[in-house]
Amino acid sequence: KKKYTTATFREMKKAGEPIVMVTAYDYPTAKLADEAGAEMVLVGDSLGMVVLGFDSTIPVTLDDMIHHTKAVTRATKNSFVVTDLPFMSYRIGTEETLKSAARVMQEGLAKAVKLEGGSELCPIIEQLVQGGIPVVGHIGLTPQSVFQLGGYKVQGKSAEDAAKLLEDALALQEAGICSLVLECVPHQLARLISEKLEIPTIGIGAGPDCDGQVLVFHDLVQYASSIQPKFVKPYAAVGDDIKRAFMQYAKEVKTRQFPTLEHSFTMKDETIQQLYG
Ligand code: KIV
Ligand code: NA
Repeated sequence: KKKYTTATFREMKKAGEPIVMVTAYDYPTAKLADEAGAEMVLVGDSLGMVVLGFDSTIPVTLDDMIHHTKAVTRATKNSFVVTDLPFMSYRIGTEETLKSAARVMQEGLAKAVKLEGGSELCPIIEQLVQGGIPVVGHIGLTPQSVFQLGGYKVQGKSAEDAAKLLEDALALQEAGICSLVLECVPHQLARLISEKLEIPTIGIGAGPDCDGQVLVFHDLVQYASSIQPKFVKPYAAVGDDIKRAFMQYAKEVKTRQFPTLEHSFTMKDETIQQLYG
């Protein structure tokens, strides 16, 4: 098995081989994703919602991201780990942004950072890239702007909005991003952007013609994820399995079916007799 790099992903795009990305936020999940052959693992700030229980990604801190990235990078052998820069850990001046990204790389050991936004980010992306930091872009539905967008809605449906997204994609490529996440945009627009770009696009809710796909782990395996958006296909129902296991365990504890002597430790009969006196 080979280690995946930004060069691998460009080659895969050229060869027409879809890129597999999945989110992970902890050691066991990242280990399984890596072993299953996921080429990219995203430590997404979606962790605020699916792991930490917030109702948006906005409360997630840089320290949260680093904490989870450390666990993920301890587990991955081949996967290329990308970490989201969370809300306002960038866009707050060049120096702060570079420091945020540097911490993610040096402490978290991520291979790249992901930033949400369009052409307004180009100057800072150029700085990051010059500093040796691979950057993944993210346009379309950008959850860190949810309160500005007025909800989790499909983006780029009008000709004007679509043209702006295409323009942003080209500008971000020019600034030096290594790949671009397209979230919740019409599949025709995702196809057009994917055709126009040399770098790979990674879609989520962006149809079948992106160069790669990403899904949130908890959605993919139905692990107590409260939402079931149209673009998610569940491949397991681990939430149901876990709940069933908890209920069975609770029942067996209540009825003293668990534990049995099979699950218990034993001492010699004469030893316990001495204690009874
Ligand atoms: O945080 C996240 O999981 C993401 C993906 C949805 C692309 O940004
Ligand atoms: Na994210």
